[in-house]
Amino acid sequence: MARTRPRPALPLLLALVAAVIPGPGGAQVSIQLSETILPRGASLQVNCSSSCSEGLDLGLETQWSKVELQHGPNWKLFELSDIEEDSNLMCFGNCGTVQSSASATIILYSFPERVELDPLPAWQQVGKTLTLRCLVEGGAPRSQLSVVFFQGGEELHAEKLGVNSTNPNEITTKVLASRDNHGANFSCRTELDLRPQGLQVFLNVSEARQLRTFDLPGTSPKLNSSDLLEVGTRQKVVCYLDGLFPASEAQLHLELGGHTLTSKSTNRGDLVSATALVEVTPELEGTHQLRCVLELADQNREAEKTLNIYSFSAPVLTLSPSEVSEGSQVTVKCEAHGGAQVVRLSDAPPGDPSPQVSFTLNASADDDQRLFRCSAALKVAGQELLKNQTQKLHVLYGPWLDEGACPRNWTWLEGSQQTLKCEARGNPSPKVTCSRKADNARLPTGVVVTVTREMSGTYVCQATSSHGNVTREVSLTIYPPQNNLVIAILVILLLIVLLVGLTIYLYNRQRKIRRYELQRAQEEAMKLKAQAPPP
Ligand SMILES: *[C@@H]1O[C@H](CO)[C@@H](O)[C@H](O)[C@H]1NC(C)=O
Ligand SMILES: *[C@@H]1O[C@H](CO)[C@@H](O)[C@H](O)[C@H]1NC(C)=O
Ligand SMILES: *[C@@H]1O[C@H](CO)[C@@H](O)[C@H](O)[C@H]1NC(C)=O
Ligand SMILES: *[C@@H]1O[C@H](CO)[C@@H](O)[C@H](O)[C@H]1NC(C)=O
Ligand SMILES: *[C@@H]1O[C@H](CO)[C@@H](O)[C@H](O)[C@H]1NC(C)=O
Ligand SMILES: *[C@@H]1O[C@H](CO)[C@@H](O)[C@H](O)[C@H]1NC(C)=O
Ligand SMILES: *[C@@H]1O[C@H](CO)[C@@H](O)[C@H](O)[C@H]1NC(C)=O
Ligand SMILES: *[C@@H]1O[C@H](CO)[C@@H](O)[C@H](O)[C@H]1NC(C)=O
Ligand SMILES: *[C@@H]1O[C@H](CO)[C@@H](O)[C@H](O)[C@H]1NC(C)=O
Repeated sequence: MARTRPRPALPLLLALVAAVIPGPGGAQVSIQLSETILPRGASLQVNCSSSCSEGLDLGLETQWSKVELQHGPNWKLFELSDIEEDSNLMCFGNCGTVQSSASATIILYSFPERVELDPLPAWQQVGKTLTLRCLVEGGAPRSQLSVVFFQGGEELHAEKLGVNSTNPNEITTKVLASRDNHGANFSCRTELDLRPQGLQVFLNVSEARQLRTFDLPGTSPKLNSSDLLEVGTRQKVVCYLDGLFPASEAQLHLELGGHTLTSKSTNRGDLVSATALVEVTPELEGTHQLRCVLELADQNREAEKTLNIYSFSAPVLTLSPSEVSEGSQVTVKCEAHGGAQVVRLSDAPPGDPSPQVSFTLNASADDDQRLFRCSAALKVAGQELLKNQTQKLHVLYGPWLDEGACPRNWTWLEGSQQTLKCEARGNPSPKVTCSRKADNARLPTGVVVTVTREMSGTYVCQATSSHGNVTREVSLTIYPPQNNLVIAILVILLLIVLLVGLTIYLYNRQRKIRRYELQRAQEEAMKLKAQAPPP
């Protein structure tokens, strides 16, 4: 800084005496300025005075327009206006023949006419360096003018004007673009520091400019869809790319065969994806390119995939007739269309695949409800696709009554609960009625009945369906329950007989034992008699 002195407090018409050159006769001229620093174009009052007592002639030498405002015996007050640049002022005075003078310097200041941040690129890639330029036009004194860059309210860099740059009106700084810079507002500001002159710091701020940053991976988007699309279906097609910033600003377009697909884009985190539902119409049959274009900032990424669109209808399987009586012939025929081949038809004799396969069969009862299946294959883009068709055969047969489902002999206990089982097989399913041969009395089948003696007899069961009727004789034997009282009496009699028998046996045995003991007693007595000495 050129001037370094303590800040003077400058009252209106009190100023410095810049230089006083004393005249030889002791007459001094002095100059007083109302201000030493002033804005460009401003006015200034200058008081030229002298100590000369008589014959004084005072004047002010300047290039600027001046007016004498007041004067005293030894002073003159001038006003200078429209001062455009820094300049020297000189007061001179002729005191008699002696001339003396005093001079002073005035400094002008001005605010920059233009402070502007150079336009930023529309998009700035993350990780690349961005140069910010601040253009400053005008402004004085330049040595006291500096530039500060801001991101939002945060100071980035400060530099004095004209120190380093080749262009005196431009200051630059570099910023490494990051995701955090996205949406940030950059600006620059000039600071005209007039504190050394006792004034303040004057600020001029540029308009803010908003930065948009982006990040894009080097990879292309991914296409998620099946390679094979069938006419008549709806297929979901998804295109996505991860690692984008800002994902919300990315645009994804899907095209099929040159036509834009209506798609729905979503973004979550750094992932953006677009989903379209393709209505596969017959006009689309053939191969088409599926394209996905991603646009972010001024960048494009695209992906492509070939789709094979085919139409394939299931084979037509016919059974003629599809309802047939047992023993009749049925023709089974399977036809494939649109280049497809019948590769398998149940129970057909083996053969090479052909668009049509048929055979006849002799319908039997076992063929009722039988499923026939036909498979057709279509080759699309090296892949074999299969479609099946099934048909059911209905064979009319019966009715049949056999021992398994309708046994001939039944033996029931009178009074018990029994069910007569007699079922018939056949298609359509037959109805069975059983009636007694003798009197046509009905006996219901398949329901629980209480058996009575009167039910016995031979019944004729008849199974009837629209396909015919058949009969079978069923005999029913009823036996009466045994009388419990008779059995009880017999048991009691048997017990009595047993008891009597036992009593007789025990009595006889006891008598024999007594007789034996008597005999032994007599023998003992005889022995004793023989041994005893005679009296
Ligand atoms: C001009 O200066 C002289 C001498 O200092 C002083 O006497 C006079 O009052 C001043 N004039 C004005 C208008 O201040
Ligand atoms: C001026 O440039 C030099 C090198 O070119 C550098 O070291 C210095 O910091 C710069 N000064 C300012 C105020 O930017
Ligand atoms: C930048 O300025 C715009 C418009 O004035 C404002 O909407 C936006 O929020 C600012 N950005 C930041 C990061 O403050
Ligand atoms: C510069 O700032 C000053 C005040 O600090 C103001 O009076 C002036 O009009 C500003 N100039 C421009 C071009 O904005
Ligand atoms: C793409 O398809 C695969 C399998 O078909 C699936 O696992 C994956 O989630 C899909 N991705 C998107 C973004 O839909
Ligand atoms: C079909 O089978 C039935 C009985 O099995 C037989 O009587 C008939 O002749 C067969 N018909 C043909 C055409 O084979
Ligand atoms: C069609 O039949 C084949 C066997 O013949 C089987 O592998 C395939 O899963 C079936 N497809 C359908 C859709 O039923
Ligand atoms: C049924 O009973 C009759 C005579 O009562 C007999 O001839 C026949 O063998 C019996 N049948 C069976 C399967 O028990
Ligand atoms: C049973 O079939 C015979 C001919 O086989 C027929 O004459 C008779 O009317 C049929 N009975 C019933 C009840 O349908």
